[in-house]
Amino acid sequence: EKGGYDYFMLKEIAEQPKAVADTLLGRIDAAGSLTLDELRISAAELREVDKVVIVACGTAFHAGLIAKYAIEHWTRIPCEVELASEFRYRDPILGARSLVIAISQSGETMDTLMALRHAREQGSKVLAICNTNGSTIPRESDAVLYTHAGPEVAVASTKAFLTQLVACYLVALYLGQVRGTKWGDEIQAVIRDLSRISNEVERVLETMEPVRELARSLADKKTVLFLGRHVGYPVALEGALKLKELAYMHAEGFAAGELKHGPIALIEEDLPVVVVVPSPRGRSVLHDKIVSNIQEIRARGARTIVIAEEGDETVVPYADHLIRIPATPTLLQPLVATVPLQVFACELATARGNEVDQPRNLAKSVTVE
Ligand code: M6R
Repeated sequence: EKGGYDYFMLKEIAEQPKAVADTLLGRIDAAGSLTLDELRISAAELREVDKVVIVACGTAFHAGLIAKYAIEHWTRIPCEVELASEFRYRDPILGARSLVIAISQSGETMDTLMALRHAREQGSKVLAICNTNGSTIPRESDAVLYTHAGPEVAVASTKAFLTQLVACYLVALYLGQVRGTKWGDEIQAVIRDLSRISNEVERVLETMEPVRELARSLADKKTVLFLGRHVGYPVALEGALKLKELAYMHAEGFAAGELKHGPIALIEEDLPVVVVVPSPRGRSVLHDKIVSNIQEIRARGARTIVIAEEGDETVVPYADHLIRIPATPTLLQPLVATVPLQVFACELATARGNEVDQPRNLAKSVTVE
């Protein structure tokens, strides 16, 4: 049932192009518009939404953090993202016009379930983004958008994460579509790019051997840091989470702009630092800032592992290891940038002799609070 792979995680990483394509299937019509009738929240209701609140845990929370950039940019609706386990304890401000999105692969995560119950008690509509048909979270929500990743067995979430991102982009674009934001042309272009993205994920998977080699060479390290900006920041958090749970290594993700506010003190000779570089097109100011961050940490002896778009030559002089990803629109970059981090963590875990599919102390779905 592992389909010839040593671990479910490897199989699930490899299934990502299909999972992404399946999650888009039937949701974009021939004219390039989104058809999400399955949402069961009417266009009229969606036009009334004045605030989006996303609740989730772990990897699903990282998908939510990325969704915030997309939702706010394409719809101009304010969006908050909160760890489900914190949500109801701070007396959040919710009302009938708040749309709460609960993201969960399993649909059984107790923290997320309790957060959505709290939201419904306050009169808010809850939309679940879920991978498991008929599970508790979608059953208790007003509406559900299923991700079509297929069963995810490995404890570390991979293909479910990519499909959660796709579902979040679909919701964001759909909200933009029904509300007619000024980003009409951009939305059309992104829908086109999204429908091609599964090929780009496939291309990334074809070039992962150097990443595996690099991971093996770092098997005796104690710490790995991850830096990113904009949507690259949650990608950095996700890279660090994968490494913690699989390799049992100390790993932290930072917003690169925060380096100078403290974390740069951690940089020492030969410390591996993974940097997710935003596209030099689009928000190029951020690109240039992150290139200076790479220079700064390298000047202090860090071993820089740079994930950058194909054709971005500015990073070459400062990268000890360069991992190339295809060019994508800025907001979609996490779909390709996360894949090398999954492969990296999986290979490090293997090199350290860890149980890849069943990391110690963890369960696939956390049904206690
Ligand atoms: O089933 P869920 O998506 O609700 O699970 C949430 C987290 O427990 C989950 O993403 C966890 O962080 C993964 N093990 C990460 O790889």
